[in-house]
Amino acid sequence: MYLLYTILAALLCFLVLKWTKRRRYCMDVKRLDGKTVLITGGNSGIGKETAVALAMRGARVIIACRDEERAAKAVREIKARSHNMNVLHMDLDLANVRSVRDFCKSFLQREKRLDILINNAGMPSVLDWTDDHFSMCFGVNHLGHFLLTNLLLGRLQESAPSRVITLTCSLYKYQKLDFQDLNYNLLPFFTYCRSKLANIYFTQELARLTEGKGVTAYAVHPGYVQSNWTCHYSVLFRILMRVIMFMFFVSCELGAQTVVHCAVTDEVTQHNGGYFSDCRPAALRPFAEDAGVAKKLWEASERLVKLA
Ligand SMILES: NC(=O)c1ccc[n+]([C@@H]2O[C@H](COP(=O)([O-])OP(=O)(O)OC[C@H]3O[C@@H](n4cnc5c(N)ncnc54)[C@H](OP(=O)(O)O)[C@@H]3O)[C@@H](O)[C@H]2O)c1
Repeated sequence: MYLLYTILAALLCFLVLKWTKRRRYCMDVKRLDGKTVLITGGNSGIGKETAVALAMRGARVIIACRDEERAAKAVREIKARSHNMNVLHMDLDLANVRSVRDFCKSFLQREKRLDILINNAGMPSVLDWTDDHFSMCFGVNHLGHFLLTNLLLGRLQESAPSRVITLTCSLYKYQKLDFQDLNYNLLPFFTYCRSKLANIYFTQELARLTEGKGVTAYAVHPGYVQSNWTCHYSVLFRILMRVIMFMFFVSCELGAQTVVHCAVTDEVTQHNGGYFSDCRPAALRPFAEDAGVAKKLWEASERLVKLA
């Protein structure tokens, strides 16, 4: 009898875990021949799987990474898995404003098109500072991508219809922005939540500013994904998270599906500036849809990175 109960309990656990990990695949088979895709942080996790998926569809894929060796290794892997030789890497450190500017300069010199920009790179909850003394999460996750997108906007408009996809996280809902302290750097988890909320406001304001100019913008929550984000933490935390991730988090391939969906499907263009999860539009908390806050953040970001 005990054996039967044990088997039933194990079966129940298995089904619950399977249910919590269920995610949709992007079913659109559209090809991207002749299109150029730029993915920040494409050497790892969700970014690398996105690169493989889009390279398989025939796109020219450029991954923008901060570590030459890791980037070169990822390019070899993406080429091998996609059978597309039109994959390359370029140097970009989003924690350094000078690096972002240099990257955009050489990108604009070398590349005549930019059809899809994927603002994927991200730092998890860590307390650190960028080279320009912004808090690491806000500086890399929001400001670096804000500057990058603005400097490449001309090329995106020339390549219209084009798309900007920014990776956010459903954890955005646990914090609000404090305009007296955008560089908030006290509790690591909250700095991450705020940077991911900034990604959502950024997407909304970008969509508003580029309305009618052929550029559309989407914010994507990829789900909770077994990527390499734990590499920034202690060995003990990594071991613990490995078990939790195995049980509850999805694979990087599944994590990339909503990004791919926003990159290729036609139906997403009806939701310009929208928030997507599991390959469909998702609702946001009302405070995260405040157009006034989105505009204020845009203007503050312009001042911080000295865009004007
Ligand atoms: N994993 C999840 O459960 C989850 C959930 C929600 C949202 N997200 C978001 O998904 C995105 C991808 O994360 P992931 O889970 O795939 O994590 P990941 O495997 O750690 O990948 C993060 C990527 O960002 C790059 N990066 C970090 N700092 C950078 C910098 N200063 N300049 C340039 N590149 C930098 C990393 O490069 P290095 O390899 O050189 O460190 C890496 O390629 C992030 O925006 C994250 O916030 C993830």
